[in-house]
Amino acid sequence: MPRHVAVIMDGNGRWATDRGLPRPEGHRAGAKALIDVVHGALEIGLSHLTVYAFSTENWKRPADELHALMHEIPVTLRQLYEGDRPLDVRVRWAGLPNGLPADVIETLIEAERATCDRSALTLMACVNYGGRAEITAAASKLAQAAAAGSINPGDLSEHAFSRYLHVPELPDVDLLVRTGGDLRTSNFLPWQAVYAELMVIDTRWPDIDRRDLWDAVERYASRTRRYGSIPHLPGPRPAASPSTSLIGPPPCTERSPTPEGS
Ligand code: FPP
Repeated sequence: MPRHVAVIMDGNGRWATDRGLPRPEGHRAGAKALIDVVHGALEIGLSHLTVYAFSTENWKRPADELHALMHEIPVTLRQLYEGDRPLDVRVRWAGLPNGLPADVIETLIEAERATCDRSALTLMACVNYGGRAEITAAASKLAQAAAAGSINPGDLSEHAFSRYLHVPELPDVDLLVRTGGDLRTSNFLPWQAVYAELMVIDTRWPDIDRRDLWDAVERYASRTRRYGSIPHLPGPRPAASPSTSLIGPPPCTERSPTPEGS
């Protein structure tokens, strides 16, 4: 079971165009698909789900589509955390406020506040998110902390760096799913997804439902994750040969130690 599934919900526009509908209709249908997938995540006990709702590059889209997205995102969020039977979902927002309409920012902040004691599933909504922007913002905050003397640049580790990301406490992504068939990661979670298993599904996002999530999780379970190591082979370990004994850390001690966790 993956702890953290991240999804690039791609194909909304093509789904609408194929049906002779305006592209915003694709986003409306995509929002419904997301709600079903969130229910499916709760049903299988997934603890973290991250979705790419709006990237820093999406501002290049036509005004009517931007308007539809800025309407659909808060409406969908409210469906998830409000109502008579609210879901046990904690909402987190990853992204920058710059350029977002005030009501969208307010809804994102309110969703985080209203759900902070919910615990079954953490749903991280990436809204006005860019991976490079996230890393750059983290580096900027770190530089300020170093200039103020509150951290020593020489002590910086990967773990310490990650504390400056938008939502630092999230575990690394185990499974990165992209719908819509394209083979790219589009500036999505470059720090968190370095060792994610990648899965591309041809289905366009509005045609996705909870069964596709379950299917992806089942396929993930059959993958072997090695994190740069080699598969574990049963049986005795071979004795070290003279040539292998040459392999190891170089004698030079001037290089700084390997960063933690690499
Ligand atoms: C990509 O499809 C999809 C988006 C840019 C928006 C997805 C947003 C939602 C489903 C609403 C989510 C709401 C919340 C609360 C997270 P595309 O338009 O790039 O499709 P195309 O590749 O066919 O053009």
